[in-house]
Amino acid sequence: MQRNPSMIRFGKTSELFSLIPPKKAIIVTSETLYRQALEMFSYSGLNAKEELRWIRVPDGEACKSFSVLETVCRNMIDFDANPDTVLVAIGGGSLSDLVGLTAHLWMRGIELVLVPTTLLAMIDASIGGKNAIDIGTTKNLIGSFHLPRLILCDVSWLETLPLKNLLSGMAEAIKHAAIDSEEHFRFLEGIANSEKPLTEIQAEVWEELVQRSQQVKIRYVDADPYDNYLRHALNYGHTFGHAIELITEIPHGFAVATGIGMANALAVSRGVLDPDIAARIDLLLHNLGLPANVEEASAIAGCNISPSTICDLIRADKKRRGESIDFALLHKIGDVRIEPIAIQYIAEFLET
Ligand SMILES: NC(=O)c1ccc[n+]([C@@H]2O[C@H](COP(=O)([O-])OP(=O)(O)OC[C@H]3O[C@@H](n4cnc5c(N)ncnc54)[C@H](O)[C@@H]3O)[C@@H](O)[C@H]2O)c1
Repeated sequence: MQRNPSMIRFGKTSELFSLIPPKKAIIVTSETLYRQALEMFSYSGLNAKEELRWIRVPDGEACKSFSVLETVCRNMIDFDANPDTVLVAIGGGSLSDLVGLTAHLWMRGIELVLVPTTLLAMIDASIGGKNAIDIGTTKNLIGSFHLPRLILCDVSWLETLPLKNLLSGMAEAIKHAAIDSEEHFRFLEGIANSEKPLTEIQAEVWEELVQRSQQVKIRYVDADPYDNYLRHALNYGHTFGHAIELITEIPHGFAVATGIGMANALAVSRGVLDPDIAARIDLLLHNLGLPANVEEASAIAGCNISPSTICDLIRADKKRRGESIDFALLHKIGDVRIEPIAIQYIAEFLET
């Protein structure tokens, strides 16, 4: 894979066809976003419904399946797609995962353009070239690396994004800021302290937030394009987070926020993180309306989360090596390190 050749543009979705020829494009979007996309393209003077080739797929995670992949490919046959076709994904991370894999497989690889419509997709899923579909309840089992040629970020999509999804993206933004720098972290604290609801944040502020966050991910992706080791730092908050998500089925970002708080408590217990910094990160999560510990996640989920269930899931984590697991631990803001921690230590930590 080349070193991050994706071009990132901030602008309006209606500008897309000044960047790629409409005749080459096949656009994949979801049932819900289709109407919104048509309206946005109407500003470009294009009769988007008639002049463009559209494929509509189910919303959210439901599109990440073999059957939807096959449907998209069959639609592409009907549209006479060829090696010059540019596949465009307009949607969140689920849709870009599906379309990225399709672009990778179609005639052994065609150009991919992403128009991310969720905060999570803008700052995370669209960056780094990873894509995947699920098999049954096992997430992201079948996937590849396929970098987009262009990522067009139009933050006006965030105006219709439900608060729950905005918060999910914010958890990843906090993760990026915490592992990046004091200055980046203070930028997010400023947003939280302004007491403005997330739904009222101005476009320029979203653009700055997205840009800052993307740069952090790009830095790790460039250092480790195939996710072999350094990129594992991006798992900060995710080892506990994935376990919490599986147990409670709370939204991904809520689970990641809980995982960040728990990973910080673990780092404090090992004497590598100042408790005041852990408290400061908890405060930012709370100020935005996110949980930061098991009790708060349990209250949101309305169920009990037992330490032994978390530990069993961590034992099954792919980052486990024998009796220990590679854990991304924060030492201070802007300093995250991957360290092996004995599963036994984690079990005892969770019981305290
Ligand atoms: N490839 C990667 O590197 C990577 C990284 C992180 C996450 N992911 C994947 O991303 C997926 C989660 O993505 P997501 O959080 O973006 O959610 P999503 O794509 O599942 O979308 C969630 C819901 O929001 C709706 N939606 C999307 N944009 C909207 C908008 N602007 N207005 C109103 N509704 C909108 C969708 O239709 C859907 O119902 C997971 O499958 C995860 O595995 C991939």
